[in-house]
Amino acid sequence: KINMVKICCIGAGYVGGPTMAVIALKCPSIEVAVVDISVARIAAWNSDQLPIYEPGLEDIVKQCRGKNLSFSSDVEKHVCEADIIFVSVNTPTKTRGLGAGKAADLTYWESAARMIADVSKSDKIVVEKSTVPVKTAEAIEKILTHNSKGINYQILSNPEFLAEGTAIQDLFNPDRVLIGGRETPEGRKAVQALKEVYANWVSEDRIITTNLWSAELSKLAANAFLAQRISSVNAISALCEATGADVSEVAYAVGKDTRIGPKFLNASVGFGGSCFQKDILNLIYICECNGLPEVANYWKQVIKINDYQKNRFVNRVVASMFNTVAGKKIAVLGFAFKKDTGDTRETPAIDVCKGLLGDKAKICIYDPQVSEDQIQRDLAMNKFDWDHPIHLQPMSPTAVKEVSVTWDAYEATKGAHGICILTEWDEFKKLDYAKIYQSMQKPAFIFDGRNVVDPVKLREIGFIVYSIGKPLDLWLKDMPAVA
Ligand code: NAD
Ligand code: UDX
Repeated sequence: KINMVKICCIGAGYVGGPTMAVIALKCPSIEVAVVDISVARIAAWNSDQLPIYEPGLEDIVKQCRGKNLSFSSDVEKHVCEADIIFVSVNTPTKTRGLGAGKAADLTYWESAARMIADVSKSDKIVVEKSTVPVKTAEAIEKILTHNSKGINYQILSNPEFLAEGTAIQDLFNPDRVLIGGRETPEGRKAVQALKEVYANWVSEDRIITTNLWSAELSKLAANAFLAQRISSVNAISALCEATGADVSEVAYAVGKDTRIGPKFLNASVGFGGSCFQKDILNLIYICECNGLPEVANYWKQVIKINDYQKNRFVNRVVASMFNTVAGKKIAVLGFAFKKDTGDTRETPAIDVCKGLLGDKAKICIYDPQVSEDQIQRDLAMNKFDWDHPIHLQPMSPTAVKEVSVTWDAYEATKGAHGICILTEWDEFKKLDYAKIYQSMQKPAFIFDGRNVVDPVKLREIGFIVYSIGKPLDLWLKDMPAVA
């Protein structure tokens, strides 16, 4: 048993923060320091207002902070003292140069590795927590060993599978923990050391050990498979609308096959979040670099269908409302990329709002966890700029004036011609839609991008309802076909 291990995690983000909080909670004998170059982010972790919203997180941080969990911007000190260093920095899509728009940008990773090499005075286990291209460990190893001053570094790949909104649950009870390492005696020893950390709360049969490249690739593959399921059901949703089938019924029937399984088959306005698109683009790039264009093209299609689904939704809105939304108030309910998070990275709401703005709509947005400042920033940002540390992002230009943001769903919908539901927040199921209907322009439209409302009940109230992949309202059937 290892005693008083010191862990340092570089990167206090959506992964580093919750993961380390759970390690600290489950391993009282381990000292955990989370460090970040963003002073503001560290200050927030040390305050009452944590930088990210995640159910259950605040409780754990409050329990452990000041005991065996600390947040600090003194990166070098904690790296120097640690036995195990997790690197959980962002690995965005490159915006320029070789592989722009596809390849992972390893700038942040590389600078973390160089800093580790600079400040270390004792042997270290360096853990890739970030999602990285296959073979990154080899590059990191080179950086560390070429600057090693006789220090021994062991690189492990330990990708994170948590989903936002359920991060704490996922960390408490993971389907598996994956650890990849070198197949040398030192490599095996390092794998064992990390395994012992997780074994404090994860049963051994759920801790998988593999070689480095399998671990790195499994993460990209898992995200590609998950995203592919959504694009598959979304592709079927378009066919449902064309034929009168109901995508919920089809997904239920398909998912009953135990080989397919019932989860992750909800048709939607499209998947979002910081991972799926970025990681598939990364996978595509790796395939291309390895001379496998057919494989690359196969995965490209997952992203194409996702873009198609978002476009299709915007076109449906505009076509239904007499082919124009110019000057019309459209209420947008939900902006986060899924419920129970305030995260808006790559949220489909950005593309939908931009599409509606392109047709000159006036948009009023309500999301229970997303601020006006964040929304304005997102709508002004260029593709792929979002995943760079906040202090490196371009300053937000002047706010888009056709967009307003409120903290109240009834205010957002008041006087609107149409409502777009873009996040599946539970509270959207419980709104008083009769009251909302009264306050809206007529005919009043609802476009449900998450299938959260009951179209039958809303039609009884008087709404014209569009739900993804459901039999179309007579009204919508009569409208020109959506290209
Ligand atoms: P994030 O942007 O929330 O956090 C990354 C943090 O790293 C930022 O706070 C940034 O300031 C900091 N950072 C960057 N360079 C640094 C450096 N050199 N030294 C110290 N700090 C530095 O990102 P995230 O969502 O936590 O994702 C991190 C990684 O984990 C990514 O590779 C991502 O693909 C992967 N991942 C994310 C999720 C998720 O749900 N968000 C899930 C699994 C894996
Ligand atoms: C994902 C993976 O699930 C997780 O394992 C990985 O570590 C990080 O990427 P995350 O992006 O946080 O997690 O959330 P997830 O629940 O996977 O949802 C991603 C997007 O897909 C969301 O926009 C969600 O609304 C959408 N989605 C999900 C659907 O449209 N339909 C579904 O059935 C499931």
